[in-house]
Amino acid sequence: MCGIIGIVSDAHSGAREILLNGLERLEYRGYDSAGVALVDESTAIYKTAGRVAALRRMVGASADAGTGIAHTRWATHGPPSETNSHPHKDCKGRVVVVHNGIIENFSTLKKALQDDGHQFVSQTDTEVFAHLFEDELAALDKVDLENATAAFRRTISKLDGQYAIVTSVAGLPGVLFAARSHAPLLAGLADGMTLFASDATAVVEHTKQVVYLEDGDLAVATPEGLHLFDIDGKTIERAPQTISWDIEDAQKGGYDHFMLKEIYDGPRAINDALAGRLFPTPPHVRLELGMDDARLRGIGRILILACGTSFHAGMVGKYVIEKLVGIPVEVAYSSEYRYGSEVREEPGLAVAISQSGETADTLAALREARSRGHTVLSVCNVVGSTIARESDGVLYIQSGPEIGVAATKSFLGQLCALYLLAFRLAEIQGTLPASDLRELERGLQHTSRLVDQVLQKSETIAEQAALIAKADSCFFLGRQVLYPIALEGALKLKEISYIHAEGYSGGELKHGPFALLTPDTPVVALLAPDGVYSKMASNIIEVKARGPQVFIVTTASDTEAEQLGDHVIRVPDTEAIFTPLTHAAALHLLSYHAAAARGCEIDKPRNLAKSVTVE
Ligand code: AGP
Repeated sequence: MCGIIGIVSDAHSGAREILLNGLERLEYRGYDSAGVALVDESTAIYKTAGRVAALRRMVGASADAGTGIAHTRWATHGPPSETNSHPHKDCKGRVVVVHNGIIENFSTLKKALQDDGHQFVSQTDTEVFAHLFEDELAALDKVDLENATAAFRRTISKLDGQYAIVTSVAGLPGVLFAARSHAPLLAGLADGMTLFASDATAVVEHTKQVVYLEDGDLAVATPEGLHLFDIDGKTIERAPQTISWDIEDAQKGGYDHFMLKEIYDGPRAINDALAGRLFPTPPHVRLELGMDDARLRGIGRILILACGTSFHAGMVGKYVIEKLVGIPVEVAYSSEYRYGSEVREEPGLAVAISQSGETADTLAALREARSRGHTVLSVCNVVGSTIARESDGVLYIQSGPEIGVAATKSFLGQLCALYLLAFRLAEIQGTLPASDLRELERGLQHTSRLVDQVLQKSETIAEQAALIAKADSCFFLGRQVLYPIALEGALKLKEISYIHAEGYSGGELKHGPFALLTPDTPVVALLAPDGVYSKMASNIIEVKARGPQVFIVTTASDTEAEQLGDHVIRVPDTEAIFTPLTHAAALHLLSYHAAAARGCEIDKPRNLAKSVTVE
């Protein structure tokens, strides 16, 4: 997820401050590098790795223009660097472009353009657009507004994937082109000025009149106003809306907390983790693992290293990989594994899971695993992070910045990455019939809609959370692939509501923790249509007999839940293997509402940090 902003005005100055201030408002969307293009008779481009403040220092107070585009980046393709930061340009420097999203067919397009002699300077997908537009403009007899607009349409028609694009063409002063497909983009309408931006935060101080572009909309902006049209050039009418949010709200998209916004980003995080990785033709699962097929075929065991929520994702990965691939998977806390250097291990594949890519324990564990001969694959969110850079291969989850300390959308992205890894290994090692794999791939692609349906249950979940919020202690129970989700639910409740909570395998409670059960100790039990449903039901009956309130999370067609528990949260039916996604979404909401009911500081819980870069 990145932040983009553009302005076109009838002045010859003013754009610099509007663009830089707008980028600062958008930094919550991404902040690993930034850039700006000031467009007048000529185009001046300034780009840097680092935050917008570094860019502001680079630009200084001299350069200015009336038109420009700017970008603050969250890297998805190509690590954070000056070269990979936006704006990008074509070979001649006539086209400059900023982009938010993922152009899924960029590899194919880039190869064709390179075969035609185009020189690329970055590793980004975005740069492909600049060279495509260059070709379309070069084919024109005359570069005027009408012809350039048609060339822009033809260029956009070649892109697959998600994009919010804003671009300018030298020789066409006072004009910006824009397009939106599955990535947010709005236009701000002000006197003598038209802006584009990823969201209202960046424009609200200049205008409260905005037009929200829809998927498939293309636009031309001039100082006089905005013209919207579709890919065929047919004019589209969209009424301006008045922004009612203040700036702080706009950064949270109108949610009370970043954590809640990121929980509701869950379906998009699933789609983004799967984007460009599942195909209808072989190889059906395409991952940049840094290992060839022979190496993947020879993997006989896997070691997963992680901390906290990422450790819980690793535990789900264990169940899924062992079930689909049949190879043993060990999951170790990074902080424990790193101190076991006397252990001799058969070299295999170590998977380091880390949202931030900077967790000190996981970095140390990764280095320890490498010293024992393992190949290291990391599952990260932050492109170019230390753990990513020290790995042999990286599976980026592409979830965009996660601001809330409590990991939510990134957990769903990590699960998707591990499902994809399991599918790839099952395919290459031939452990599942192709038909079963295709069905699993389709099932995984469908889960974003299932999670969306879970999130629509927020009111029911909030009512139950209000009851849990009164407790001093709470248990979460799950079995098999839902045991890690019991641990995850307990961790979330602990870290944002400060209620003491424990996650247990359903069968374990009777081996001691039963002694803690009282009528005031709520128990959250997770059920799935799997081979241990009846065992889990028995555990719930045993628990109920000791008096606590039992809260059940189960699938829609479960017919016994009301008899088993006191409160039921139903998630949509899905294969048991995918219930970690649906049940985690429910528990993330449950912990959020419990913390809200207790008036806790949800985005920045006491004693915690988003990234634990110390031991
Ligand atoms: C999860 O909500 C916590 N923020 C914490 O447990 C976190 O998962 C852990 O510190 C690991 O962080 P990482 O994924 O960035 O390595």
